Amino acid sequence: MGAIFAAAGSAVGLGNIWRFPMLVGDNGGAAFILIYILSILLIGIPIMVGEFVIGRHTQSNMIDAFRQLAPGKWWRIIGFMGIGVAFLILSYYIVVSGWTLYYAYSSFTGALSDPSCDYEAFFNNYVANPWLCLLSAVIFMLLTHLIIIRGVRDGIEKCSKVLMPMLLLIIGILVVCTFSMPGIHKGISFLLKPDFSKLTISVVLDAMGQAFYSLSVAMGCLCTYASYFGRNTRLVSSALSVSSIDTSVAILSGFIIFPAVFSVPGVEANAGPGLVFQTLPYVFNMSFGNVPFLAYIFSGLFYVLLFLAALTSAISLHEAVTAYVHENWKLPRKKASTIVSVASMSLGVFCCLSFGVLSHWTVFGLTIFDLLDVVSSNIILPLGGVLLALFVGWYLSKALVRREITNDGQVSQRVFPIIMFLLRWVAPIAILSMFVKGVMEMIGV
Ligand code: PFF
Repeated sequence: MGAIFAAAGSAVGLGNIWRFPMLVGDNGGAAFILIYILSILLIGIPIMVGEFVIGRHTQSNMIDAFRQLAPGKWWRIIGFMGIGVAFLILSYYIVVSGWTLYYAYSSFTGALSDPSCDYEAFFNNYVANPWLCLLSAVIFMLLTHLIIIRGVRDGIEKCSKVLMPMLLLIIGILVVCTFSMPGIHKGISFLLKPDFSKLTISVVLDAMGQAFYSLSVAMGCLCTYASYFGRNTRLVSSALSVSSIDTSVAILSGFIIFPAVFSVPGVEANAGPGLVFQTLPYVFNMSFGNVPFLAYIFSGLFYVLLFLAALTSAISLHEAVTAYVHENWKLPRKKASTIVSVASMSLGVFCCLSFGVLSHWTVFGLTIFDLLDVVSSNIILPLGGVLLALFVGWYLSKALVRREITNDGQVSQRVFPIIMFLLRWVAPIAILSMFVKGVMEMIGV
């Protein structure tokens, strides 16, 4: 349970509650969700199993895992890409995670349930305030650091066992609350009635990209967590459990957000990145306008949920890098973790400031924050994903993969050929298309 909760904690993050509803809102609801689920099944799960195979077999962080499996070969670049991208993502992830902390705090002080609040100005003033933004990110990083230094059993596993059930409970409470909202029917039909006219190739590739990001694959996190799995952990059923939890949370977040959005006249579902931080506080307030206490509780619980999701993901990103520094540089865990926290926070400072004083620092028209997001999510991640699929599908010995997937023959072999087929053919072609789209978008073609 601890291992599954930890891996599910890695997968369930801002991507599920912030990015997924935003993409669903922009791309026409249920049709997008359908493609998303297909991407999880055909691409995400096979790659997750591949990562589990590598991690559990080598019992090492991602870089050393590739050194062991392909000594002296260039394949080890996948390991460097995985750990490198985990470090980059951590550096900007803590910025948005800091926002969640500030919004949870502001909900409880009542600032967000003040009817006279201008939520757009509230958000813009906050992200442009370097000290407040930095303070939130530093506090968030400190919390992550304190969990990581306690180690895998006492830190990560214990926390995941508490935080994940808490997170699921809050989602349950919020979903039940949305049933009292006037926009419930419109929200549900938006989520369940597919509008295929909105599906373009670009939307399909966005759905695949989101599935990839949401499952946390190809970033060293799941490989590192799998290195702590026991010999009797079933890899395919663990991947299925993690993906089911992750997908359920994403869809349930839609069930929390859209009924609320459709309850307020004049608010659109396609509000983009501002949906969670600018539109929702307004929506929560309006939906429960006649019972201010409910608006206060709903908003508070929602941002605590976002914060918990961000925390469990940040822990996994931090652990992927820390495990490498600890095992490879042979440093004590505390020292390794401190190096990672300080280095990532230093880069995080630039990401924080890119919403205010450094907003004019741009490359390809992107601020530092956006650049890190685009380079890691649209370029390095898909590239790492393709290589990972090819490595497990074509390079690794079939016998080794079969042994890991079947736990030395103790688990049924039926899914083995399906996983191999998806890893050899479907995943590489699909992810390569995502990569090409990412590069073309970045250079503005
Ligand atoms: N899967 C996380 C989310 O959906 O927010 C983000 C993430 C966590 C990405 C860990 C990558 C990772 F290694």
